[in-house]
Amino acid sequence: MADIESLLKEKRVFKPSPEFRKQANWNKKDVREFRKSGEKPERFWAKMAKENLDWFTPWKKALEWKAPNAKWFAGGKLNVSYNCVDRHANSWRKNKAAIIWEGEPGDTRVITYGELHREVQQFSNVLKSLGVKKGDRVALYMPMVPELAIAMLACTRIGAPHSIVFGGFSAESLRDRINDAGAKVVVTADGGYRRGEPFALKPMVDEACEATPTIQAIVTVKRTGEPTAMKDGRDVWWHDAMATASAKCPPAKLDAEHPLFILYTSGTTGKPKGILHTTGGYLTHVTTTAKAIFDLKDEDVYWCTADIGWITGHSYVVYGILANGATTVMYEGTPTHPGPDRFWDIIERWGVTIFYTAPTAIRTFIRLGDEHPKGHDLSSLRLLGSVGEPINPEAWIWYNKVIGNRKCPIVDTWWQTETGGIMITPLPGAVDTKPGSATLTFPGVHAAILDEDGNEVKPPDGGLLAITKPWPGMLRGIWGDKKRFKETYWSKWKGTYFPGDGAHRDKDGYFWIMGRIDDVMNISGHRIGTMEVESALVSHDDVAEAAVVGRPDEITGTAIVAFVTPRGGINADEAMKKTLLGHVTKEIGAIAKPKEIRFTDALPKTRSGKIMRRLLRDIAEGKESVGDTTTLEDYSVVAKLRADDD
Ligand code: WTA
Repeated sequence: MADIESLLKEKRVFKPSPEFRKQANWNKKDVREFRKSGEKPERFWAKMAKENLDWFTPWKKALEWKAPNAKWFAGGKLNVSYNCVDRHANSWRKNKAAIIWEGEPGDTRVITYGELHREVQQFSNVLKSLGVKKGDRVALYMPMVPELAIAMLACTRIGAPHSIVFGGFSAESLRDRINDAGAKVVVTADGGYRRGEPFALKPMVDEACEATPTIQAIVTVKRTGEPTAMKDGRDVWWHDAMATASAKCPPAKLDAEHPLFILYTSGTTGKPKGILHTTGGYLTHVTTTAKAIFDLKDEDVYWCTADIGWITGHSYVVYGILANGATTVMYEGTPTHPGPDRFWDIIERWGVTIFYTAPTAIRTFIRLGDEHPKGHDLSSLRLLGSVGEPINPEAWIWYNKVIGNRKCPIVDTWWQTETGGIMITPLPGAVDTKPGSATLTFPGVHAAILDEDGNEVKPPDGGLLAITKPWPGMLRGIWGDKKRFKETYWSKWKGTYFPGDGAHRDKDGYFWIMGRIDDVMNISGHRIGTMEVESALVSHDDVAEAAVVGRPDEITGTAIVAFVTPRGGINADEAMKKTLLGHVTKEIGAIAKPKEIRFTDALPKTRSGKIMRRLLRDIAEGKESVGDTTTLEDYSVVAKLRADDD
């Protein structure tokens, strides 16, 4: 395999401030110690499992590993809802805010640990009354309302694995996921709010459930109050069922390897994969990482902007945060409603101290203009995080300067649906950061850059990111498909996990993630990450956002096509194209110079904010798209790009 060439040169280094270092949950010495014990991952993680979680029964052996099958803390018994709720409700935290919720129209709800304790037990009893037993699957198809977190925790309380289907998916996608998991009950809402308008969910569930033989009941939260059809004998309103449910439901004592949830994620081909996570290892991983990486303290107001329908919401809106007894903010709607400053308004009003979001959101805010964050008092913030894709250094610098006022460490966290929790990340009081690098592995996590044959690639050359030892939050399988699990993740190298990302390390051992392997272009025999070209484009003052794809080219194999969104007020003309070509040549080299630049007002994105490169590739090639577009945020963007093409 020709190495993936890394052409980005980023030299800036940011050290944690002495003030931050002094108060950090983990200091340099702790991290050194933990890394040492993490050489044997089971030693470090066993210590964390004991320290951070409450167990009903201790485990016998921390790790049983026969690749690709891992068992963490098997024989140990615990309950996730007990760890996330009961132990706090039974302490001084009883009246502390567990969830601060804000609806898009501006309505709010603050739920204390004591209240959460009651509601989770009540909903556990509702599920039981609908015939849900330990091991049965429950599908959750909901907007960002507190009942979603309550339903998740209730599932964990009785040992019924949940399968959350993001509310933006179509009825068809919901049906496929319900059938793949064989879910018994669906929990949904009449609808939710987005961009100032109510949208309906229950009708989609009705449509999906025309062909879901396993579904016995549908529970619906009343959120919008829009007229909603209910079917006798199958459908119940959340509030009716809760009104008569007892608030006493003891937590089930579950084995550490009991299935906790299934979350579907799309592969490059074929149907979505149901990623399976289990109880003890997953909770150890997300609780420990949340405490160390977000430096969670009792006084913090923590806000992760991800929808709970994605893994980031599972691990770092709900489980990892509540297990630490912290306060988590949940926001229902779009970042720009009613105005472009909604996020900054939320931070100011609630006094958010820790803010975790995605690079795509950051780039959107850059485009909207600095006046919006500058119009708010963001001085409560003390730590910033990034997740979901590589953050380009210019966005990192803006985040640091404009949002963090140069005093907040930034944790750029690399991980996946499959890894369950964060794997590569700075520790904010102990690791110097470099804009664009996720820095180093978390203690107890082992990663390397390998070539196709499994040989380690020497820095600074690029290659394939690999996780070389088991970790507690690792996926335990693909629901109902052992073969695909093995083939997708464990067949490239023996006993080593293949995440599908390209990366390289620098002389300090820092990891620089270059994006998915299928986003890597081969230009005249050089493999170049799309992200590096994008990063170069975005570093130009006149560019707000850029996406780069490859299209087949007779001479160079692949030609680079760049879709560029200029900043407001910039004239997108031939002269600017020339300037940008010169700029990329200067930043990276002529090899990375786009063959074509197309200007666009917006890029097609999924609702989780990822640029849909597959669509851009089709547009660049002048092809009709045949793939699934159900997760596309705004279809008009694509229509417009195509129209420009004619
Ligand atoms: C990408 C999201 C660079 C990566 C938690 C990974 C990142 C995929 C980062 C997983 C990061 C996530 N830097 N790339 N900090 N975080 N990615 O399953 O390509 O939605 O494989 O999980 O996102 O996406 P997923």
